[in-house]
Amino acid sequence: MYNDLKGKNVLVTGGTKGIGKAISLGFAVEGARVISISRHTPEDTDDRITYYNCDVSSSNDVKSTIENILSKFNTIDILVNNAGIEEYASLDKTDEGMWDRIMDINVKGVYNVSKYCIQEMIKNHGGNIINISSVQANIITKNAAAYVTSKHAIIGLTKSIALDYAPEIRCNAVLPATIDTPLVRKAAILEVGNNEEKIKEKIREWGLQHPLGRIGKPEEVANTVLFLASNQSSFITGASIMVDGGLSIKAPISTPDE
Ligand SMILES: NC(=O)c1ccc[n+]([C@@H]2O[C@H](COP(=O)([O-])OP(=O)(O)OC[C@H]3O[C@@H](n4cnc5c(N)ncnc54)[C@H](O)[C@@H]3O)[C@@H](O)[C@H]2O)c1
Repeated sequence: MYNDLKGKNVLVTGGTKGIGKAISLGFAVEGARVISISRHTPEDTDDRITYYNCDVSSSNDVKSTIENILSKFNTIDILVNNAGIEEYASLDKTDEGMWDRIMDINVKGVYNVSKYCIQEMIKNHGGNIINISSVQANIITKNAAAYVTSKHAIIGLTKSIALDYAPEIRCNAVLPATIDTPLVRKAAILEVGNNEEKIKEKIREWGLQHPLGRIGKPEEVANTVLFLASNQSSFITGASIMVDGGLSIKAPISTPDE
């Protein structure tokens, strides 16, 4: 438990599914007031969370949604930029529509929401921002040029926010590897088709590539976000924290047995 999170107003983008849902529930358990802004209506809602429909890539939508939120909640103390999409193609196969979609949601979305929240945080003498990047800001897979670029860009934005608004605002990035969410299931379906056994096998195969032998759980990303949002991480800012089961330390080269 992080006692200092109790009563804080926390805005989570993309809080209706996967990692964002686990982050929202994690803050709710800590006694924070959680606000989720998301493009999708949640399948199952939680009484402790207030949901707004908002497309983070639209600056008008973000501006009016944040005005609505502030008229009800007065302040935003913590922002988690989690909303994101992934689509797959090498650069020459990435049409302009795909490039713009990914950049608009994954990068401009972070810019849009942070911009309005930072102005409020400064008025309120400070705040804390956590951006969900990806292990793909460090090591990358083939055929994901726009996504990889977007996740690298988030690291730059994280450092800029950390430097420009220190000491009032701390800002850090979390870099997950493969996490068990609808996004990963969608990626598995693209590879093996809509066959439940094959999907499970593909996800298990991905898991075995991580030194910890499995893919991660959304709650394991949420736990890191809670730590970064709390005073327990009070001297950490501008950092990129891996939550990757060791994936990024492993060179794909075999060595002789001992
Ligand atoms: N799952 C993984 O393996 C993994 C690994 C590394 C990084 N990530 C990152 O974590 C974040 C969450 O991923 P996930 O796997 O939970 O995804 P997901 O597809 O399961 O959920 C994505 C959430 O983002 C919201 N969203 C999408 N576009 C939006 C928009 N334009 N405006 C507002 N909300 C929007 C959706 O409504 C949903 O709530 C993403 O930024 C993703 O890139 C995921």
